[in-house]
Amino acid sequence: MDIFNSKMNEVGRSVEPSKTLAVAALAKRLKAEGKDIISLTAGEPDFKTPAHVARAGIDAINEGATRYTAAAGEPELRAAIAKVYSERWHMELKGENVCVSSGAKPLLYYLMSIFLEKDDEVLFPVPYWVSYEAMVNMCNGKAVPVQTTLENGHKLTANALDQACSPKSKILLLNNPTNPTGAVYDSNELLAIAEVARENDLIIISDEIYEDLVYGGKHQSLYNLTPWLPERTIAVSGVSKSFAMTGWRIGYTIAAAEVIKTLASYQSQALSSPCQISQRAALAGMTGDREAIDSMRDAFGERLTYCQERMSRLGLPFVEPRGAFYIFFDTSEICAKRGWADGQEFCTHLLEEKGVALVPGDAFGMPSWARISFAASQEDLANAFDRLEDFLG
Ligand SMILES: Cc1ncc(COP(=O)(O)O)c(C=O)c1O
Repeated sequence: MDIFNSKMNEVGRSVEPSKTLAVAALAKRLKAEGKDIISLTAGEPDFKTPAHVARAGIDAINEGATRYTAAAGEPELRAAIAKVYSERWHMELKGENVCVSSGAKPLLYYLMSIFLEKDDEVLFPVPYWVSYEAMVNMCNGKAVPVQTTLENGHKLTANALDQACSPKSKILLLNNPTNPTGAVYDSNELLAIAEVARENDLIIISDEIYEDLVYGGKHQSLYNLTPWLPERTIAVSGVSKSFAMTGWRIGYTIAAAEVIKTLASYQSQALSSPCQISQRAALAGMTGDREAIDSMRDAFGERLTYCQERMSRLGLPFVEPRGAFYIFFDTSEICAKRGWADGQEFCTHLLEEKGVALVPGDAFGMPSWARISFAASQEDLANAFDRLEDFLG
């Protein structure tokens, strides 16, 4: 072991397991040991993959579609994704504008890997999705988290972005709707941010993985907001959250053909291709009827209304979510009262004393906060809020 440790590079020595996955695993283990645990840590829908999508996967196995495919994904799937977004964004996209991978996550990593030179800066708002900072570090870039305020719904502002830019800034990474706050940016906010990105000559990577989960409004993509945005924007999304397909591992990037070509070459060396079975299932999702997405969104919307009402009664400051399936709240007041250091300690006490698992805000760059996921049954949510009330009372 010493030999390996002594020869491991800086990336290997410093990389840590994803904190959100680690908490979910702990909750699962305690449950398996027979403890009465309600886990609100899930980063994935609790619904089943829609039947017609799952069936397409089973058919693929039976038909022997169990091979390597073209590196950027099967042409039919790339074309189907291009068609969906051409219609959604009112612009012409082709299969050559789409690279499919094993989830959105590897694509985000590849993008960091193909664009970053040593110490190039990647800017993203705080709180941020757990893997952004790690990915930038793994690719020898410099993560520049940009502070936000609760008053502003913890959204990045054009002004804050401008102030954080330096000559080394290369990429703006924006997640909309946002994990962990559920914040959703409107067109004006996006446009102001995009203008600053253009002034500072930044590439924009727009992580829109929760695009189908917006409540009481429509999602506005950054990609098609202005005619000049596609020249500097790379959109990343996938079927994980929209179609409850996290385990199938299919995500995609939409970008200029030359970016896609490089991603495909990179992927051909790093992965070969995404799973053919999963690609067939995703194709059924992209070409089939979208009723399942709408009904999942409606169910999430109802849970959100319920959770917001329960949150308001708890009296803890939180961001009013408009998308995704998370609620992010401030634990500092209660921590100060009880002599706890931060959200980590809050979450540990909550888990030990009341059996409710949440993700500490530390995972998202805000240690005194915590994240609730409402990708859980109505019964679990009701029980968890009863326990939280008890815990705080
Ligand atoms: C903000 C954000 N981006 C990307 C991903 C990765 O999604 P995928 O399952 O497609 O890799 C996640 C998953 O939790 C996420 O929350």
